[in-house]
Amino acid sequence: MIETADMSFEDRMVTPQVIEEDREAEVTLRPQTLVEYIGQDKVKENMAIYIEAAKRRGDPLDHVLLYGPPGLGKTTLSAIIAHEMGVNLRVTTGPAIEKAGDLAAILTNLQPNDVLFIDEIHRLNRQVEEILYPALEDHAIDIIMGKGPSARSLRLDLNPFTLVGATTRAGQLSSPLRDRFGMILRLELYTTEQLTDIVRRSAMLLKIPCSIDGATEIASRARGTPRIANRLLKRVRDFADVIGNGEITQEIAKVALDRLEIDALGLDSNDRRMLEMIIKGYGGGPVGLETLASALGEEAVTLEDVCEPFLMQLGFLSRTPRGRCATKLAYEHMGYPMPQTQSPTNNDIDGQMYF
Ligand code: ADE
Repeated sequence: MIETADMSFEDRMVTPQVIEEDREAEVTLRPQTLVEYIGQDKVKENMAIYIEAAKRRGDPLDHVLLYGPPGLGKTTLSAIIAHEMGVNLRVTTGPAIEKAGDLAAILTNLQPNDVLFIDEIHRLNRQVEEILYPALEDHAIDIIMGKGPSARSLRLDLNPFTLVGATTRAGQLSSPLRDRFGMILRLELYTTEQLTDIVRRSAMLLKIPCSIDGATEIASRARGTPRIANRLLKRVRDFADVIGNGEITQEIAKVALDRLEIDALGLDSNDRRMLEMIIKGYGGGPVGLETLASALGEEAVTLEDVCEPFLMQLGFLSRTPRGRCATKLAYEHMGYPMPQTQSPTNNDIDGQMYF
């Protein structure tokens, strides 16, 4: 796939969202146990204890909320939880549950202690959310029969179950819903070392010969995201098959990723376009998110969920109360001189989140 400047964020090679070609590999490569799962050490350690405790008591695991940027393994973790608990997993998404009845149908079909995974849980509508509250607290749902003055409410008992909710934006969850999760766990972007281990594991499972240097090259351009690392692995394999002898070496990986216009740090044309807009269009910032999004012809949420976490992790972007700023590191990477007269906010990469 060759990228063009006007390609949207969703179409690009380094989008963290699932694209069609990921689906098969995600199932094959998905680790089934916490031991096989690489990275997210804090989450894994806590989860192992909670799972063991729940199993010993014969109880369902407490409800879990997983949040963090897309592509970091929220669905994978929910499948691991179900596997480790020895129960079934039912997967759905917030926007797919349109009516209260849709959720009632799912809940009444759960077996004892099953895991229900709801992705994009911040997009559940109000009516559906209301059904969920008694289900989470009392393992029961209230069904309204009939309409108007003759309407009656019927309470239906459910099997105990665990809800695993996933969201890229914990701040958008209503507080009554957030308060009903016993565990709120944040997934972090992966380090290059962790991604190298993931690429080597995936290469082994897919029977692709891959040197450690080759795996590191792919990992270092995968913007902290396993889904992207696995996707790049498959694209680099095509180059290894056609221009090499099938083995992924560092040299082949470099050639392939350069051709895909993914630079040494994992930035693609869209990231560079965003930084260039801040630097050249707005003097390095601060520039408001909405202004930036409309100047780029993108959705503000896409910039915020997809681009910014990675650019902030690299220390290329700071979020300040007055808007987004490109940092000295961003100027250096993009090959522009830093202006002499600089906005005082440009250098404060203090890791704070301002909205
Ligand atoms: N594949 C995708 N994510 C993974 C992870 N965290 N550990 C192992 N394999 C993976």
